[in-house]
Amino acid sequence: MNRESKTQQQYPMIATAAFGLEGLCKRELLALGFADAKAENGGVRFSATLEEAFRACMWLACADRVLLIIAEGRCESFEELFQLVRSAHFSDLLPRDASIPVSGRCARSRLMSVRDCQAITKKAIVEQMKTAYHTQILPESGPRFQVDVALHGDIARVTLDLCGDALNRRGYRTWNGEAPLRETAAAALVRLSGWRGDCPLHDPCCGTGTLLIEAAFLATRRAPGLKRHFDIEEWPCVDIQMLERIRKDAEAQYDPSRIPEITGSDIDPDALELARRHIRQAGLEGKIRVFQRDLRDLKLEAEGICFLTNPPYGERLGDRKQCEALYRAMKPLIQRHSGSSLHVITSHPGFERIAGMRARNRTRLYNGRLECEFMNF
Ligand SMILES: C[S@@+](CC[C@H](N)C(=O)[O-])C[C@H]1O[C@@H](n2cnc3c(N)ncnc32)[C@H](O)[C@@H]1O
Repeated sequence: MNRESKTQQQYPMIATAAFGLEGLCKRELLALGFADAKAENGGVRFSATLEEAFRACMWLACADRVLLIIAEGRCESFEELFQLVRSAHFSDLLPRDASIPVSGRCARSRLMSVRDCQAITKKAIVEQMKTAYHTQILPESGPRFQVDVALHGDIARVTLDLCGDALNRRGYRTWNGEAPLRETAAAALVRLSGWRGDCPLHDPCCGTGTLLIEAAFLATRRAPGLKRHFDIEEWPCVDIQMLERIRKDAEAQYDPSRIPEITGSDIDPDALELARRHIRQAGLEGKIRVFQRDLRDLKLEAEGICFLTNPPYGERLGDRKQCEALYRAMKPLIQRHSGSSLHVITSHPGFERIAGMRARNRTRLYNGRLECEFMNF
């Protein structure tokens, strides 16, 4: 296949997303112009050329990865898996020297051994490549094409990962505090809060600052992937100039002058130190202010504030009593700031009862392995 036809070819893709975030991720893809985006458990399918998919990597805020589905079908035996992978056109995309690590997952499948699935997938890819390139030697010294074989029931899905590091790795968070929120989850909460940069935003338990930084990215139209590298940028099958244009366009859209008032506070000075470091690494120094304050004593000058927060849940940080005392302080916090709203994520089932407020909206999602609710008040 020549370069031009590869550039125009549409491939089936999936943007993987945490449970509960598939709908948001679908909305993001639709807004990016992927009209056939369709949500399913754990992700959103869409079709795209390689270059369009790079744009998705660059701009998706809530997705975990963008994967190209290179083979998919029913496999009830290892032989069927081998034939499925062997018949996929890896050599159309992978150069002769591609490095090809293979990861694997099986859930409720007849083919229970993940290791065997990985080994068979690798063997089939190598055979396909050797035949296509008329060679016995594949040096694997070139660009990385991370392959994943996932079996769900009897259906095998074989994918190529365009990203490399997962999409939450934006490049600004290098030190983690206790119980930080994933960048992708934080981006989702900003969107679910309904905040659009039109009023001040404050996180009164800001920890390492993830919610604040993701809010700033949204308000300044900063592509989440702007400052990081993606595996697809090394692939010889892509039109590298087109990728550079997509990057340049993202740079042009970023407008730090659009930043509204975004502030954070926390009781823990060590967490605030990390927050300052992350803010600096995100290029937002001087644009987001954080300071030490107990939420119970917090009084800001502004009114009409969007309070968005990921407080302790009483499971991972501190004890339940302390955490409940903090929840009781949330209603007085909004009452002290007229016209304000509160948006909270917690796994604590009694939040509304303890805080003495009823949420007008709730979204069920996961923070890591913890099942949580995100509530808007
Ligand atoms: C789950 S962590 C927040 C993590 C943060 N979203 C991040 O990404 O790093 C909860 C935070 O609440 C803070 N905290 C606990 N009690 C507090 C209080 N009374 N006032 C202000 N902050 C408090 C803790 O210090 C901790 O940083």
